[in-house]
Amino acid sequence: MIREIVVYPDKRLKLVSKEIKEFDEKLHTLLDDMYETMIAKNGIGLAAIQIGIDLQALIINLVREDEEKQFKEDLIEVINPKILEMDGETTYQEGCLSVPEYYDDVKRAEHIKVSFFDREGKEHIKEYDGLMAIAFQHETDHLNGHLFIEKLSFLKRKKFEKEWKKKLKKK
Ligand code: CO
Repeated sequence: MIREIVVYPDKRLKLVSKEIKEFDEKLHTLLDDMYETMIAKNGIGLAAIQIGIDLQALIINLVREDEEKQFKEDLIEVINPKILEMDGETTYQEGCLSVPEYYDDVKRAEHIKVSFFDREGKEHIKEYDGLMAIAFQHETDHLNGHLFIEKLSFLKRKKFEKEWKKKLKKK
């Protein structure tokens, strides 16, 4: 089922998501709904809080560079993630389904080592770099109640808030 996306400045986006303890059908339905919603909105990543559920679940499905589209077999489902190591620095123009139609450069670690659980409750330890590392950090931020716009410079953030207010008024 496609769910409604929670959009900034909705306060739910500031919630710290809770650890998932049951790897049951309810979790599987949540993950399936997150996938459907993300695809419907042309996103490459989504955290559960973006559909109003404050649980530590996120999904990432990058676009294959050579084919310019997403494949479900590349989907990763991430439960209770922890970033164990980060190094390097990279800048990428990020966007977010909760801050629609706004994009800006964000600095993040280039390489990360992470642990997380899959939908069956199996633990995985992985290392990521490139866009996967960026997306993982962006989505994990959501679980801690943070958005990428918090990483903008003071002036850029001010400009963003002004434009955003104007945009919300028009709706
Ligand atoms: Co986001």
